Amino acid sequence: MFRFALPALALVAVFLGARAADPPAGPTEFKFETAAQSKSEFDKSAAPFLTKHCAECHNAKNAKGDLDLAALDPDMKATTSGARWAMVVEKLATGEMPPKGKPRPADAELVAVGQWAHAEAKRAGRPFTRRAAYANGNAVPHHVLFDPKNVPPFDGGPRVRRLSPEIYAAFTNDLAKGRPGIGQPFSPEGKSTFKDMGAPKMDEPVTAQLIQNALAIVELQTAYKVEDGQVKGVGFTQKEFLALFDPKNLPTDVQLEAAVAKQFDTILKRQPTAEEKARFVALMKKNITDAGQTVGVRYALAAVLLLPEAVFRMEVGAGKPDAKGRVRLAPREIAFALAYALTDKRPDAELLKAAATGELDTDAGVAKQVRRLLDDPKTDKTRILRFIREYFGYDAALEVFKDSKDNPEHDARVLIEDTDRLVLYVLEQDRQVLKELLTTNKSFVAYKTAADTKKKRAEELAKFEREKAANPEKFKGKTYKPFGKSVYEVYGLKDFPDTQPVELPAEQRAGILTQPAWLVAQSTSFDNHAIHRGKWVRERLLGGVVPDVPITVDAQLPDAPHKTLRERMAVTQQEYCWKCHRLMNDVGYPFEQFDHFGRFRTAEKVLDPVATEKNKDPKGKPLGPVTRDAPQDATGLIAHVGDPALDGPVKNVAEYMKRLASSERVEQVFVRHAFRYWTSRNESPGDAATLQAAHKAYRDSNGSMKALIVSLLSSESFLYRVPPPESNK
Ligand code: HEC
Ligand code: HEC
Repeated sequence: MFRFALPALALVAVFLGARAADPPAGPTEFKFETAAQSKSEFDKSAAPFLTKHCAECHNAKNAKGDLDLAALDPDMKATTSGARWAMVVEKLATGEMPPKGKPRPADAELVAVGQWAHAEAKRAGRPFTRRAAYANGNAVPHHVLFDPKNVPPFDGGPRVRRLSPEIYAAFTNDLAKGRPGIGQPFSPEGKSTFKDMGAPKMDEPVTAQLIQNALAIVELQTAYKVEDGQVKGVGFTQKEFLALFDPKNLPTDVQLEAAVAKQFDTILKRQPTAEEKARFVALMKKNITDAGQTVGVRYALAAVLLLPEAVFRMEVGAGKPDAKGRVRLAPREIAFALAYALTDKRPDAELLKAAATGELDTDAGVAKQVRRLLDDPKTDKTRILRFIREYFGYDAALEVFKDSKDNPEHDARVLIEDTDRLVLYVLEQDRQVLKELLTTNKSFVAYKTAADTKKKRAEELAKFEREKAANPEKFKGKTYKPFGKSVYEVYGLKDFPDTQPVELPAEQRAGILTQPAWLVAQSTSFDNHAIHRGKWVRERLLGGVVPDVPITVDAQLPDAPHKTLRERMAVTQQEYCWKCHRLMNDVGYPFEQFDHFGRFRTAEKVLDPVATEKNKDPKGKPLGPVTRDAPQDATGLIAHVGDPALDGPVKNVAEYMKRLASSERVEQVFVRHAFRYWTSRNESPGDAATLQAAHKAYRDSNGSMKALIVSLLSSESFLYRVPPPESNK
């Protein structure tokens, strides 16, 4: 590793150019630095709205639901009004307020109030979604997005994002050919529905790591030794670079230009413009004069790795706005955007060719390329699997610590692998993907190791019996202890299945939400977590908004081991709590058919105080707790969705999943999440046309995930940008 000597300035100057390209905020998203900014937006949009639509029932004299809106401080930092505002937003989002019979507010008004409240909550450091880490795109009311008769105009602004950690890793790994010494500068966004959303800051540690990586990579690209006065490459040194290190001759302009061109091609997959070529050649010369041949050349080559284009995803658009005020992304931008949407790699040759030949200038041309990549067996399908995994969140099973004394067969990693495999299986069929994911009773069971474990057990058992027959005395009373974990027990099986996937009893298992991986992920270390599971369903399937736990509430269930979970949850039925908890509890109960390891059960074990009291040895020493089976209550209720096809009581988990899976609303909410994942942002009203087309494509193709992706990636929201007004001069 070579020293961080001067003159790093030239390098850093190039890099500063990158920072200046930080993303402009989208035209519809507020961001408040000060209370005054927030207050001014509040006075402009929210206050008149509340006066017009709400004040008659929520004032000092007549405060329905104990809510006086005029007394509710719009400064969420100064007061504890945040939870109350969260409630207001929720009422607006679900359309519950103003109540039926009152004039409906215009959608634009609703959105403005919602966005003010979200931005203000963020400013106050208490974003509504603090706890759940679910940056809730659902805040845009569902009907605004899916009403075909009223489609708001597209308004998505230009975007510049940094690469995802995965893309950066693939990129640098490609360059360093797997050599160590490259650190990951980026970490995933913590607070969003999907990990790769938003535009996290490029702060000091990130830039330092980027510079260090660039230098390390260039060092590998240019490694050389001098033998008998001759410069020779070491490892995979590129010949265009070798010529620059000749100890006898300074590089010529032609050689410098060739090196710059080579580096642009390697890093950016394009040739430098004449201006860039001149600039980098000049930089290289200056660096050579200041720091000598080796360091000078390397710093200049490293600067290419730090160009904005190498570190950011540019989706700005080029050319003149069309009649709708939109500019289309430049063909190269589209090529990179498509590649990054479907893989972690940079665009392949065919995609770059499509960009160069004008194929990406039409939506049909884009769709054709997306189709090609999706159908190509060589395209790594991890991006799609990652979507499903992050959407369902079952991989969090690894983060929930479980006591092995309660279930020695528990193995979170295996459970996740099994669910991953099931997802891939459903994606391979590519028919009614969501419905299958929510209802299939097929399952993989320790599929990676099942066959081997079975074989090994049989061999060991045979050996054990041979030895036992030969020496009965020695083996007296001994039995064979099977090798490996019997993970199948969690699935309710008696052995590893011979064929995979295996069909589990249909009244027990229905889709991912009944897979042990998901149930474990949505539980605590010692118990089920019906509230959390219900919140998941409310947000991810029903598209609802659940206000965050108010900081004043001590969110603890009573410690009462002799009661069932449902009995303990009765505390949340107090009027104040129920306003939020009715959105979660009822849709979380049906999963009580499983224990917190994901095992199907027909009764809940609770402490039996009387039997425990009697459980003593003859000397009166207590022998420990005794449990009893409390009757299982896994009934639930779907309500507060506003969709008669969904609302109503739920008998059991299988019926529950079937109802959800056949709902158009649920399908649309799934499409909304796919939108968020593939565009890396939350939907806004202007994306209604894209969402409706994507949902139609999904329906018309018998629920094909590929068709859904093709539609999203060739949509207006993906391919166009509306520049903010000030840049339209
Ligand atoms: C015609 C009368 C009426 C109008 C107009 C009205 N509300 Fe309400 N609101 C009620 C009643 C009645 C309740 C209490 C019953 C309930 O909780 O469903 C309530 C409850 C609420 C609650 C729950 C209070 C809490 O924190 O527990 C919120 C929040 C709310 N309204 C917000 C609004 C907003 C925002 C508007 C304007 C868009 C509005 N309401 C317009 C009658 C009204
Ligand atoms: C403004 C909405 C809101 C109100 C009001 C509210 N809660 Fe909650 N509560 C939540 C949310 C959101 C969660 C988190 C669910 C999750 O785990 O993601 C939660 C979780 C809980 C939990 C589970 C905690 C855990 O992590 O295990 C308990 C217990 C609870 N609340 C009790 C109460 C009680 C008691 C009240 C009334 C005194 C109350 N809550 C009022 C929104 C609310």
